[in-house]
Amino acid sequence: MTFSNKLIFWYLKNNRDLPWRKTKNPYFIWLSEIMLQQTRVAQVMSYYFKFTENYPTVSHLANASESEVLKMWQGLGYYSRARNLHFTAKFIANELNGEFPKRFYEIMKLKGIGDYTASAIASICFDEPTATVDGNVYRVLARYFGIETAINSSVGIKEFKNLAQNLIDETQPGNFNQAIMDFGALICKPQNPLCDECSFSESCVALQKNLIKKLPVKEKKIKVKNRYFNYLVIKTEDDKTVLNQRNDKGIWQGLYQFPLIEADEIICKEQLITSKEFYDFFPDETTISLFNSKEILHKLSHQHLYTQFWIIEIKSLKSAKIPWKIIHSYPVPVLIANFLIDFRFEK
Ligand code: ADE
Repeated sequence: MTFSNKLIFWYLKNNRDLPWRKTKNPYFIWLSEIMLQQTRVAQVMSYYFKFTENYPTVSHLANASESEVLKMWQGLGYYSRARNLHFTAKFIANELNGEFPKRFYEIMKLKGIGDYTASAIASICFDEPTATVDGNVYRVLARYFGIETAINSSVGIKEFKNLAQNLIDETQPGNFNQAIMDFGALICKPQNPLCDECSFSESCVALQKNLIKKLPVKEKKIKVKNRYFNYLVIKTEDDKTVLNQRNDKGIWQGLYQFPLIEADEIICKEQLITSKEFYDFFPDETTISLFNSKEILHKLSHQHLYTQFWIIEIKSLKSAKIPWKIIHSYPVPVLIANFLIDFRFEK
C-alpha cells in the first residue's frame, strides 16, 4: 500500500467526529479552519456552533457589525482573525455576489487566508489536490521520512510542501489532508507519540534511527532589532569632513563613520535639525539636504539599520580635519563604503 492509501485507510477508521466534517460548504470550512488556527478543537467547538447558528451564510456574517462579530469571538484570542473574517465576508457578499471562490489561487487572494487555509478549503470543498502543511504535517513527514531540514527555514517550507504535494491522493485530497493532520494530532504526537500502535512504524526512519525526539528540527530564530541611523556627512568650504572611530562594544568596533545621530524611527529634516545632538554639533547655520530619498536598509545578522545620509555644507568646522581626498584610506563599514561610491558619482 502507498503512504497515502495507508494513511487514508487509517483515517476512515479513526477520524475525529467533528461538526465541520459533515459539510462541504466552503463558508463553514473557512470558518472552522480560521478558528482552528493556533487553537484546540475542544475550544473551537462552541464558537463554531455559535457562529454558524447566528450567521448561517456568509451574507449574514457580512451584515453583522464588526463589534458584534468581535463580541462573539471574545475568548477565542488572536482577534485579527475575526476582523479579517468579517472583512472577507463583506468582500464575498458585496463583490463576489455571496459566492465563495472555488480555486486555490482565487481563495489565496482573500484577506486573512494563506497557503494553509486556501489548501484546506480547495481540497475539502472543491477536491483540488493542494496539500495542507500545518505543524502536524511537518511532524509526520519529518519523522516518517527522516528529514532534518528545519521546518521554519525557507528551504524547509518548500521541501515539505513539495513532499506533501507529491504524496497527496488526487482522487480524495480533502481526506488525505485531514488524514495526515489527524494522524499527527492523535498518533504521531509531539511528545510521547504512540509508535507501538502506529501502522507506519516498520518503515518510519525516525523510529529506526532513534530520531523521534529530534524531529522535526526547528531553527531558533534570532530577534532582529531595527535601528534608525542618521549620518551627518559634513563638507566644509576647504573640503574637509569629520569621521569618528567606533570605540564602544557592539557593531563595527574600530571602524570609522560619519557623526551619527540615532533615532527611534525614521525622521525628517525638521526633526533632525531640532534635535539636541544636532544643535550641539552645529550651533551655526548650515545647508542641509538628504542624500538618499528612501532610507537605505543595511542588514546585519541581528540588526536592521535604516539609514539616512544627510549632506551638511558649512563654511568651516573645527572638528572637520579629514580632507575628502584621503577619506578612502580610512577603514569604514560597508554601509559607509557604499555611500562613498554613490556619493562620488553623484557629485
Ligand atoms: N487542524 C486544522 N484543520 C484541521 C482539519 N481540517 N483536520 C484536522 N486537523 C485540523
